[in-house]
Amino acid sequence: AGADWLKGKKALVTAGGTQEPLDPVRYLGNRSSGRMGYAIAQALQEAGAETILVSAPTDLAVPAGVTCIQVQTALEMYDAVLTRFSEVDVVIKAAAVADYRPAVQAEQKIKKDGTSRTLELIPNPDILAELGRRKTSQVLVGFAAETENLLANAQDKMHRKNVNLLVANDVTKLGAGFGSLTNIVSFLFPDGRKIDFPQMSKHEVAQHLVREVANLLGV
Ligand code: PMT
Repeated sequence: AGADWLKGKKALVTAGGTQEPLDPVRYLGNRSSGRMGYAIAQALQEAGAETILVSAPTDLAVPAGVTCIQVQTALEMYDAVLTRFSEVDVVIKAAAVADYRPAVQAEQKIKKDGTSRTLELIPNPDILAELGRRKTSQVLVGFAAETENLLANAQDKMHRKNVNLLVANDVTKLGAGFGSLTNIVSFLFPDGRKIDFPQMSKHEVAQHLVREVANLLGV
């Protein structure tokens, strides 16, 4: 193993928070900045992998040498990821994907009329779960952003979504999760192994993750 341990491998990373339009000027979103996913894309590229970044809107610059596909909604991310799944060796799903979208997207800006309103939401497909069902030889890495029962919820996601590695972050901790420059994570594996990391930069988390991915790929 060395600087180009992922040479010849193809990787796909998702990043950022999807935006689900309500009308031409409004959307439902979340607080993901994209930093975690962009750091992973950079680390994969630096390790020699041909890297595709499927990104929801962010303010970040695409790391040098990385191919970026911009998307807005969960459905667009679903299409961008699923169409490329068969050609890649590893997928890392760091994006915060909206579980629901508005049932109706208004063609014109919604006007206020002083009354209260109810918004109907319909479920989005779970991209990671679909990859878990279709997986052949790919290494699949998921994230779990939890505000309670971190370990139990993360373990449940790992098994339900059939991933090879799950990165659990307690997003209630200061210096972890959405928007921060650092993260506090644990890596969980289906064989029961668990590695807990102290607070570190998202770039350092990305480097640890790339090392584990190389192990899982057997390189
Ligand atoms: O972007 P940053 O500001 O740097 O913040 C990083 C982060 C907190 C967003 C990141 O570390 C993280 O935890 N990303 C996953 C956030 C999330 O939506 O977690 P979840 O527990 O809701 O989803 C579990 C997994 O399923 C994730 O890998 C997610 O990408 C995937 N998923 C979820 C819903 C859905 N419809 N499709 C999916 O693929």
